[in-house]
Order: sequence, then C-alpha cells, then structure tokens
Amino acid sequence: MQNIQTSNVGNFGDIIKHALLVQLIRFLKNRSRSNFIYVDLHTFLMQHAANFPTWSSNVAQLDNACKEYIDIEREHYSKTNNYLCSSGIAAQLLEKHSHANLILSEQCAETKKTLKSQLDTLTKLDHQIMNHSTELSSYLKSSSDTALFVLIDPFKLEQKEWSEHMSAITNVLQQSTNMDVVIEVFNYDERSVDEHWKDFPIDESVLKRVYAIKYNKYHLAVFTTLNIADQVSLKVFK
Ligand SMILES: C[S@@+](CC[C@H](N)C(=O)[O-])C[C@H]1O[C@@H](n2cnc3c(N)ncnc32)[C@H](O)[C@@H]1O
Repeated sequence: MQNIQTSNVGNFGDIIKHALLVQLIRFLKNRSRSNFIYVDLHTFLMQHAANFPTWSSNVAQLDNACKEYIDIEREHYSKTNNYLCSSGIAAQLLEKHSHANLILSEQCAETKKTLKSQLDTLTKLDHQIMNHSTELSSYLKSSSDTALFVLIDPFKLEQKEWSEHMSAITNVLQQSTNMDVVIEVFNYDERSVDEHWKDFPIDESVLKRVYAIKYNKYHLAVFTTLNIADQVSLKVFK
C-alpha cells in the first residue's frame, strides 16, 4: 500500500515544517552541546521525488530566514533529483557533528525498508530505527550536556500518543543534566490554536510552548525546555 505521505512531499505544509526544522536545529547546534540527539517519531523517508517547479514557486513565498533550508534542498535536488524529507535534512545538518545520533521511527513496513537502505547510503551518523513512535521511552536514554530535537509529525496526533511522548521526554529530562530540548509538532485539526493545544498538555515545570500557528487546517507548534525558551523566541521567532 502506498504511504499517504508520497502525495504530500514538498507541499506548502511540508515546506514550512522543514524550513522551521532547519532554523531550530541550527539554533541547537549553535549551543555547542557535546551530544546531539535527533528524534523523528514519524519519519517517512530521508529523500523522495517531488514536483520541483511547484516546490520552487512555493518557497518563493518564504522570507529570508528560510534561506538555509532553500539552499539545502536546492543543492540536494541538483545532485540527486530528490527532495530531502525531515530526517534527510537533519542528517545533512548534523553530518559533521562528532556525537550526533538519529533515532527514527516508521510504522509502514515497506517505507521502513526503503528508509533503511537510504540510511546506509545517505549518512554516516549513528542511527536506530523503531517500529512505532510509542517505543520512544525504550530508546531515549538520560544524557548529559546534550541537545535533543524531537519532531512529532503523524498525520493525526492522538492524545494518548502525545502523553506517552511527553512522559518519555520529561523522564529523560529529570535524569539528565544540561539538556536543551526542542520539540516541533505538526498536526491536523480544524479547531483554533488554543482549542487544539489544550488537548495536548505539557509539564510546565520543564517545558514551555514558545510558538503555535495554524494555516488552513494544519497546526505547527514548538515546545522547549525553560532554559532556552526565551532565546528560541528571540532568535527563531523574532
Ligand atoms: C507526515 S509523514 C512524516 C513526514 C516526515 N516527518 C517529513 O517531514 O518529511 C508521517 C509518517 O509517519 C508514519 N507514521 C504514522 N504514525 C506513526 C507512528 N505512530 N509510529 C511510527 N510511524 C508512524 C507514516 O507511515 C508516515 O510515513
């Protein structure tokens, strides 16, 4: 069965999500923590074919802050005729990091098989692949002096799944020292921003929502640990 994501690759929602992903990973990289863990709970593939003329006209609507994202995609496309998806972009940004690790999850068996072969050819970074996003607590270990980026991007996020992710992340935070965490979430819901996010509680003693927008029927939000919340707001969402 074809993965629904194949028809979304490179659409406007995908572009906004990836442009923000680049800025957030750049922010975390600049914090120069010893370790970088990139978690993609709903990975799809590292790269996929896309309609490049449509992508090009869509990115023309983005502002200058998205230049690095546009350059990364353009360069990759010129070499491979493929469009980088979230994990492909992250792998490229982290390739030179001496202690970066990818934790990916993909539930579709066929997609996962292709993802594995792409990982073998597109990155040298250490990586692990889970079968399902709810296995996160078994893969995420406590760590010191670490930047942790988590992308949550199913087609439709359920409250139960959200609670499991939040508990895995807050548990790790409680056992770690000097950890900077950024969580980017992309979700579908017809309701308003406030109505939507009230269903997805966080532990406000450790995490803060620093950004939330809705365009058409899609919601995009960013949560961070308290130590970096003001800086993310200032540097990424100025
Ligand atoms: C929206 S796509 C991901 C797009 C990708 N993150 C990107 O930005 O390029 C969602 C993917 O997650 C997979 N998926 C959905 N629910 C999942 C779950 N609970 N655990 C693991 N994979 C899941 C789907 O098969 C699909 O490939």
